[in-house]
Amino acid sequence: MKPYYITTPLYYVNAEPHIGHAYTTVAADVLARFMRARGRETHLLTGTDEHGAKIAEAASAAGISPQAWADKISGSFRELWKHLDVRHDDYIRTTEERHKACVAAVFSALKDSGDIYKGRYSGFYCLSCESYWTDKEAPEIEGKRKCPNTECRRPLQLVEEESYFFRLSKYQERLTELYKKGMFLQPSNRANEIVRFVERGLEDISISRTKVKWGIPVPGDPEHTIYVWFDALINYVSALGFQPGGSPGRFNDLWPAEVHIVGKEIYRFHAVIWPAMLMALGVEPPARVFAHGWWTVSGKKMSKSLGNFIDPREVTREFGVDAFRYFLMREVPFGNDGDFSIEALRKRYNAELANDLGNLLSRVLEMVDKYIQGNLPKRPALEEDFKTSQIAKRSPEIAAAMERLAFSEALEIIWSCVRLLNEHVNATAPWKLFKTDPDKVKPILFDLVWSLRIIAGWIEPFMPRTAAAMQAQLGVRQFPMPLTPEEVLHGPNGDRIQKGPPLFPRKT
Ligand code: MSP
Repeated sequence: MKPYYITTPLYYVNAEPHIGHAYTTVAADVLARFMRARGRETHLLTGTDEHGAKIAEAASAAGISPQAWADKISGSFRELWKHLDVRHDDYIRTTEERHKACVAAVFSALKDSGDIYKGRYSGFYCLSCESYWTDKEAPEIEGKRKCPNTECRRPLQLVEEESYFFRLSKYQERLTELYKKGMFLQPSNRANEIVRFVERGLEDISISRTKVKWGIPVPGDPEHTIYVWFDALINYVSALGFQPGGSPGRFNDLWPAEVHIVGKEIYRFHAVIWPAMLMALGVEPPARVFAHGWWTVSGKKMSKSLGNFIDPREVTREFGVDAFRYFLMREVPFGNDGDFSIEALRKRYNAELANDLGNLLSRVLEMVDKYIQGNLPKRPALEEDFKTSQIAKRSPEIAAAMERLAFSEALEIIWSCVRLLNEHVNATAPWKLFKTDPDKVKPILFDLVWSLRIIAGWIEPFMPRTAAAMQAQLGVRQFPMPLTPEEVLHGPNGDRIQKGPPLFPRKT
C-alpha cells in the first residue's frame, strides 16, 4: 500500500510559535502515529515559510539579515516539535536549495506551457496575510479598505506594478469537478464556502512582485520575485524531489498526499490555487484538504497587541507534554473553533487524566500487587463477558474516527471504555471479594490488566509518553511499542506487573 503522506502548513517565521501552530502539528502527528501503529508506512512533512515582505520586516526590526532571522525562528519551530514529541519525517524550509530550485523549475515549466504570463497588476495587498484582494473583495468603507480575512481586518495597501499571472481562471471547471467527487474538501461543513467561491468565477492571480526583494527570483527576470504563496505551496512536492516533466522515485512513491491539514484561514489557497497549480503541471491533486478551526484564548483572538499569545512550553511546564496534546485533541471536534484556557485544561486534566485514567491504572496495579504479588498468570481464555473482549470490539470504531480526523470522537470512545472499567472495579469490589473468595479475584484482575493494555495502545498517538509508561507498568515492556489492540490480544503475555509513579498527579 502507498505510504500515508500527511502535511502541515509551512509556518511563517515572522514570530515565535504559539499554541495555534502546535495544534495543527500535533494533530498531524497524532494521525501519523495512528497510521504507523497500524503498520502503514507514513510520511509526515512540516517546515517553515521564510520568504516575503513580512519576514524581511521582522528581520530588519531585529537588525539582522532575513536569512539569519529565518534560521533562528525556524530553529525554534523545529525545537518545539521535538519538545512536543512530534515525529516528522522531513522538515522543509523554503530558503533551502532543494525548494528554490523546484519553485524556479515549476515557474519556468508553467511559463512555457502558457499558464503563467506577464501583465500589469493593480489592486490591494495585505502585508500580514501576504494576499492580494480585488476591488470587489475589499470594497472601500468610509474611505478605507480593510483585509477581508475576518481574522485580520488590517488596512490594505494599493499596489500597481508589472506582474506575472497564473491562469487560475482556466481551471474553474476542473476544480468544480474535483469538488463534486466528494472527498477533497474536508470537513464537509466547510466545503460549501469553497464551492461557492469558485462558482462565482475565478480571476487569474498575480504571482510576482517587484517591490519584495526577499523572495525567489523569477527565472530570467530577476527584477521580480515569486509571490510567497506560489512559492510556499510548492513545498508539498519540492520536499519529495518533484521535477516538472518527470520526477524521481520518492515523489512517485509518496504523491498524492493523503491529507493536507491546514487552518480555516488558508483553506482557499489549498483548496483552490494549489490544486489548480497541480492541474497545470499535469499532477494529481491531493486526496484531501482538511481545514480545522481556530483557537481563541479566554474568548479573545490571539494577537500581538493583546499580548495573549500562549507559549506551548509554558503550558507543558505545568501540565506536561501529553496533557497538552490531549487537551488540544479533546476539547473541540477537529474542524470547529475552540477556546483555550488554563482553567479548562486543568479541569480536563484532573477529571479525565488524573481521575478517570490515572486512578484506574493505579487502583488496578495496587490490587495486582496486593492480591497476586505482581505475578499475572497467562491470559485466560477470553470469555464474552470479559471487559477485554467488549473493549477490543470498539477498535474499528476508533479507527474509523481517526481516519476521518475525528480525534475528539476517538478519545470519547476510549474514555467511555476507561469509565466502563472504573465502574467494573466499583461493581466487583475485588477488595471485598478477596476476603471471602480470593480465587475469584484473579480473573477480574487479568481482565482489567488486559483491558488497560489495549487502552494504552489506543492512546499512544495522543499521549506517547503516557502510553509507554502504562505499558511498562502493565508488563508489556518487551514488545515493540506501541501495541495495537490486536497485538495485545494475540501477542505474548508480558512480564511482571510493576506499579510506577502516578501518571497524572493532581493539579490544584
Ligand atoms: N505560511 C502560511 C502557510 C503556507 S502553507 C503552504 C501561513 N503560516 S502561519 O504561520 O500563519 O500559520 C498558519 C497556520 O497555523 C494555520 O493555518 C493553522 O494551521 C495554524 N494556526 C495559527 N494560529 C492559529 C490559531 N489561533 N488557531 C488554530 N490554528 C492556528 O499561514
